[in-house]
Amino acid sequence: MARLVIVSNRVLTPGGGSSRAGGLAVVLKDAVTTPGTLWFGWSGRTADETSTDAEIVVEDGVHYATISLSRDDYQKFYVGFANGTLWPLLHFRLGLIEFRREHLEGYRAVNESFAHALAKLLRPDDLIWVHDYHLIPLAAALRHLGVRNRMGFFLHIPFVPPSVFGALPQGARLLKDFCAYDVVGFQTRAHHRDFLDCVHQILRYPSDDAGIVSAPSHAVRAIVTPVGLDGASFHKQAERSARGKNSRRLFASLAGRHLMIGVDRLDYSKGLVNKFEAFNRLLARFQEHRQHVSFLQVAVPSREEVAEYAALRPELNRMAGDINGRHGAFDWVPLRYMSQGLARSTLAGFYRLARVGVVTPLRDGMNLVAHEYVAAQDRDDPGALVLSRFAGVASYFDDALIVNPYDPDEIAEAMNEALLMPLEERQRRHRRLFECLCALTAEAYCTKFLKALSGNVGGGARSSRREHHESLGHT
Ligand code: F6P
Repeated sequence: MARLVIVSNRVLTPGGGSSRAGGLAVVLKDAVTTPGTLWFGWSGRTADETSTDAEIVVEDGVHYATISLSRDDYQKFYVGFANGTLWPLLHFRLGLIEFRREHLEGYRAVNESFAHALAKLLRPDDLIWVHDYHLIPLAAALRHLGVRNRMGFFLHIPFVPPSVFGALPQGARLLKDFCAYDVVGFQTRAHHRDFLDCVHQILRYPSDDAGIVSAPSHAVRAIVTPVGLDGASFHKQAERSARGKNSRRLFASLAGRHLMIGVDRLDYSKGLVNKFEAFNRLLARFQEHRQHVSFLQVAVPSREEVAEYAALRPELNRMAGDINGRHGAFDWVPLRYMSQGLARSTLAGFYRLARVGVVTPLRDGMNLVAHEYVAAQDRDDPGALVLSRFAGVASYFDDALIVNPYDPDEIAEAMNEALLMPLEERQRRHRRLFECLCALTAEAYCTKFLKALSGNVGGGARSSRREHHESLGHT
């Protein structure tokens, strides 16, 4: 059997802790346990020079290989191009893009460094699976070094239509970089369609109904493979955690009030400002909830070297103070706002206690918090989920209360509906959401992607109707 090589910017190295790892690394950790797998990426450290050789650690048969980046490379690659240009572009925030040619050059240089260090570790039949927007040019850089292995790429964040993608300077070259892979995967059909439209309109590469792009040198297969998590095991963790000390303390502090919960990285794409404003409007417009609900928002600081991220924190601090000052009482703090992370196991119990989960990003690739909230619920007395229509997961979770995250009043109305929702309706919606969750596991995600990556699908003509349906997420 071919060895699997996973490549991602963040790697969940043994003993490295998961606090900085984010959702991607957690999904991969859940899924990639096969002994022999190689997981390659950034060490999370900066140094005087970018490493030319990886440091390797082995645990339970999985090999973790990481390189460190020079401070200058890190600034240009991670802060500059990946998070200062690509992130806002692919989240439809053109006004926030700060493009500099030197950042793009740094981004390409780091991808080349990854390629040089990785190429030394590769075997001829390895399957290489690259993750996320930091590493789009990696396949082209590896091909340049003579690597002939099959390579796949999965984008964890949204993709945009040609009218938006067209704003990216030198965007055509980046699209060609996507096409150096054999397989390219997306979270939703909309992202998949936008990618094919870009490739068609900007590069003039045609594609067929099965998502096979005819690039000049080879066929590229574009597929839909939504990420997920192991809902059944998260459900058990939530049951255990809800009986634990932290959940008992939270429960006692509510003094019989309902809990609403939000958990996000402190990122402008997560729609936190509108979420706070929505809670403000809930309390102003639906006064029966005063004194009867507490909203816990956990916002984990992220990418603070990027100016927009740094500016968001004081803005949210100000809003939280304002909301509590306006609506609070001597015995009730309506908004409990924490700009610190909590352990995933602790959160599992908190989700279970919450009558309402509020997941309202302005755009999101998938959003696994929605999965976790649904997985954690008590089936007999479940909470309701308020969900942005612009989170990838909204394409799958029809039974959430779907809102437009740009309208704080609409979010407030959905919060009100969720708080008042009768038990039977909560049970009915939750049953369907849980069924959907069980189809979207980390295992299903990996199996589907790897099937496409290892499959000998050389072109549209060889792709069956059934494969086409699978690749679009119909199974
Ligand atoms: O959701 C996109 C993503 O980059 C994930 O890959 C990652 O888990 C998360 O955001 C955290 O971001 P960062 O690696 O920049 O801390």
